[in-house]
Order: sequence, then structure tokens, then C-alpha cells
Amino acid sequence: MSKSYSDAIEKIKARANIVDVIGSLVTLKRAGNTYKACCPFHNEKTPSFVVWEQSQQYVCFGCGEKGDLIKFVQKYYNITFPEAVERLATQYGITIEDSYGEENAKKDGYYELNRQAARFFYDAFTTKANPGFSYMKKRGIEPKTLQAFGIGYADDQWQSLTEFMKSKGAEESMLAELSLLSEKNGRYYDRFRGRVMFPIFNTRDKVIGFGGRIIGDGEPKYLNSSESLIFRKGYNLYGLNITKGYIQKDNLAIVVEGYMDVVSLYQSGVCNVVASLGTALTLDQAKLLKRYCSQVVLCYDADNAGINAALRGIDVLRQAGLDVKVLHVDDGKDPDEYIKRHGRDEFLALVRNKAVADVDYKISLLRRKYDLNSTTEGIRFLQAAASVLRELRPVEQDLYIRKVASDYRISEGSLRREVEGGKSPTPQTENKVSARQTQDEAPSEESIAPSSLMMERTLIRLCLLNSDYFRKLSDYPEAFVSRSGRRVASAMEALLKPSADFDISDLRDVLEEEPYRYLEDILENVVPGENDGAMFAECKEKLDSARRRTRIADIQKILELGESEGQEYDMTSLMRELMDLQKQEKK
Ligand code: GTP
Ligand code: MN
Repeated sequence: MSKSYSDAIEKIKARANIVDVIGSLVTLKRAGNTYKACCPFHNEKTPSFVVWEQSQQYVCFGCGEKGDLIKFVQKYYNITFPEAVERLATQYGITIEDSYGEENAKKDGYYELNRQAARFFYDAFTTKANPGFSYMKKRGIEPKTLQAFGIGYADDQWQSLTEFMKSKGAEESMLAELSLLSEKNGRYYDRFRGRVMFPIFNTRDKVIGFGGRIIGDGEPKYLNSSESLIFRKGYNLYGLNITKGYIQKDNLAIVVEGYMDVVSLYQSGVCNVVASLGTALTLDQAKLLKRYCSQVVLCYDADNAGINAALRGIDVLRQAGLDVKVLHVDDGKDPDEYIKRHGRDEFLALVRNKAVADVDYKISLLRRKYDLNSTTEGIRFLQAAASVLRELRPVEQDLYIRKVASDYRISEGSLRREVEGGKSPTPQTENKVSARQTQDEAPSEESIAPSSLMMERTLIRLCLLNSDYFRKLSDYPEAFVSRSGRRVASAMEALLKPSADFDISDLRDVLEEEPYRYLEDILENVVPGENDGAMFAECKEKLDSARRRTRIADIQKILELGESEGQEYDMTSLMRELMDLQKQEKK
């Protein structure tokens, strides 16, 4: 068994500072938030090798070499990763323990016990007639499906599993740790009795626990394994070992509440399905799903518990970067019942047409709480909706402000004001370079329209060539759309001197890591054309045109709504303005 370095790596990273490690091998010069050197990995005269103390990373913008301190040591001495870890460990007085092997052997022991138990339940289920099999048959689950999920039966004899496992030489106390057995007065007995057994697998196909459904009515309906060394509910999803390939292929996971929903949907041909093991979805489960897909449909019961679970689920799934929709089936209490009545195609049509995007879902739930005919309740709804929208990334927020305003016939302006609250909308007005201030307000690069991002990059490149361009953009804060772009722009704002161009090295010195990398990327990849004047004019025309289009849409909305807001508009001059704008747009 191989040694584990993870413990040692953690300790190395806690004790060693990348600046000291690299600084002892090459001459580092402090420059603002960074340290610079001539790259030790390629020949160069001007320093393009940068070290960040904060993130403990290094990058060479010349040769592209980058990583953390272990990677540096590995590269520098041309040794393997374990050798680099050992070298640093020795240097920092850290001993590498061989505990991983022991821990793994212990886990393997538990996996093996669970595997034997699952086999025992499966044999009891399949080799002779039993109430478990009859029950599942009555519920319409076919042998092929039962086999795929390894479903079994625990009889009601109190000692069946205990005796069987003892005959295999298993220790009762270990089985109790897996909550397969219970203990009373020093005597062990079967914990699962008279139940259909659903083995729970991890994605490496190890049996980590069980869910046992009572046959017919009774309490508790489902009995689950308790957490153990090998079973952590919040880290696993029921069915994923079987369905992950389908989830990947469809780039979509349908998340349901129960074991039976998974089994039943799967049998009907809806195979991209998992269940969350009885608990509220955790961030770890969301991240696990994110490995296989980028979209999730939460398909929970329409009762209060299901609605609340969906609301919590939305937040963690979003946090993991997944797109989320919610679907409550409209016939039957859960997906299992629905698909039995209507079949695969109708269920898929429901997923396609009736699943509601998370934001719409949240707002529609709010809508139900308020009577929009009453002014005070209308205002409450507006405030509540605004607090949902405030959580969104700016681009999405803008879209939803329009959508919600139009869906619920409320004024877009008031909603926007409510959402934006007291926030300053233009980071450009700040004259201090502050990383944190702008960080949370701008979207990350990937959520922005590629054309806007391209334009931002071009504009930054042009402004660096000639600071007049930057001055001309002072009234166009919307030109800078990405988080890094805005940070670069506000750094430029702070460094702007009358009648002088930007000094790129000054700019580098005030930037933090993310915008620094962004700037380097622009300098390297955005090639200014022959005629930068024309290029700038083209960008500026695009910005003007975007403004005109927004204004056109606003005016059209005002004209459409008439005087519903109680505000008086000069309709004639609005019409005139509209026609003017449209004429300019056509040019
Ligand atoms: P069926 O009645 O077999 O169709 O169950 P279901 O899939 O419709 O389950 P239900 O909506 O009642 O519950 C959904 C999930 O919640 C189940 O799959 C279990 O994981 C969990 N659950 C339900 N009842 C219990 C219970 O009594 N105890 C525990 N611990 N979990 C339960
Ligand atoms: Mn059910």
C-alpha cells in the first residue's frame, strides 16, 4: 500500500512559505503584492516569474510554468512529487506517517462486511419466495431492475444475518459499527428485520450502507444505516454508481427524494436519476454531481417538506455552480407514482416543459404569499422578490429584473431600485484600488457574453496603448464587465495621470493575483490592430448602440404601460426620442 502524503502536504503548506522556499533558491524582488524574479526554468533577462504570497502560487508568464511550492521544488531539483514532499518534510521537521495504509485496510474490512451482508440479503430475496420479493413485484419492479440495484430482503427472524456473518468469522462489534446489528445486554441481533433492503453504493461500487423499507405499512417506513467510518450520508447519492454515465451523457441529473423513485424512474428508462439519501442536499453532494453534469432538476414531492427541501437544494446546487430547475409532478405524490401512471415520455415532457428555473420557482412561491391587489402587500412582494434577485450574478440579475417586472406587471424601475438598494453601481467612481469592493459586484468571466468580454479585453489593450481612450471611457462604466476587468479598470483610474500613458509595471504592482493574471493574458493574447483609432471607435459605437437599445426597450415599456405607475410622462417627447433612437440604430 502506498504511503499517504496528504497529511504531510498539509503540514508542509502550513509551515512553509512559498516566498521563503523560492527566495532561498532564486533572488526574489518584492513588487507590490507580488515577488518577481528571472525565471529559473528558462533563460530570460527581464523578470516574468511571479510569486504570490497570498495564494502560495507561482507563475512564469514567459514559459508558462506554474504551481505551488511542492511543484516548484519538484521542478527545480528535477525530482518526483513524493521526493519533493519528502525533501520539504525533512527540511521543515515533518514526519511522514504511514497511517494511510492502516486506515484503508480498516475500511476495506468494513466494505467487505457490507458486501457479504448485501449478498446475504440478495440471496434471501432471490432464491426462494419471500414477502420482500412479493412486495416489490406488487410495486411493479421487475427482476432485471431489482438485480441492477442489488435489492434484497431481510427476514424477521432476529438472528439470520447475525448467525450467517458469525459463521463467516465476522466480528459482531464491527457489524454493530456498521449498524447491521444492534446490541442489548451484550447480545447482538439483526437490526434490519422484515424489510426490503436497498444497498447504497459509492461511486467506486463499494457497499457503504443500506436503506430498508418496511413491507407494507409500519414505522419507521425506512430504516437507514447510521453513519460509520465508510458511510457519510452527506457525501453520497443513492443510485449514482449506476446512473452516473447517463447523467454525464445527458448533462443533467434528476434528483428525487426516495429510493423507490430512483428505481422506478430507472426502470422506466429515465436513467439520469439519483436520490439524496433522506437528508437535505449538501454542498458535497452538489459538488459530486457537478463532476458529471452542469444541470439539475429537483423533483421532490409537492408537500411542504418537498418545497422546503427544494428551496434549500437550490441554494447548495447553485453554490456548486450547477443550473437548477424545480419540478413538482402534477399527478401522484412523487415521480414513482407519476411515471407508473403516465410512462417515460410524459415524464420527460414534464421535465422539459414544466420544470421551472430556480429563480422563477422562488419568486412564484413568494407570489402565492401576497395579494398583489393590495398596495402594501404589493410592496412586500417587491421587497421579497428583490431580496431573491439580489443574490444573483449581475448579468442574470439584470435579465431577471426585466422578466419578473414583466411577468408580474410591476415596475421595472422600482424593482431595480429595490434590488440595487444603496449599492453604488459604478466601481469606476472609486478612486482607490480596492480589491474587495468590486469583487462581489461583478460577475466572473464565464457568465458574461463572449462578445462583451472580448470588447472589454480589446478596450483594456487600447487604453494601455493610449490613456486618452481610457479618459474617453470615463462615462462608460459598463464597458468593463468582468470582475477582473473592473479591477484592472479601477486600478487604471487610480493611476491615471493627466497627459501621460499608463506604466504597465505600475499597474502590475497594484493588482492582486486574479486581475494580474487577467492583465498578463490580455497583454499576451490581445493583439492591437494596425489602426487602434478605428478599433476604439468601433467599440465605442457598440457601447452607444447598446445604450440606445436599452433606452428603446425602456421607452417601449413606458408607452405600453401608459401611466400605470402614476407618473406622468411626456408621451409626445418620448415618442420623438424613440423614433430618433430607432433611426440611429438603423444607420
Ligand atoms: P415509498 O412509500 O416506498 O414509495 O417511499 P417514497 O420513495 O415515496 O418515500 P417517501 O417520500 O415516504 O420518503 C422519501 C425518502 O425519505 C425515502 O426514500 C427515505 O430515504 C426517506 N424516508 C422516508 N421515510 C423515512 C423514515 O421513516 N425514516 C427515515 N430515516 N427515512 C425515511
Ligand atoms: Mn413513493
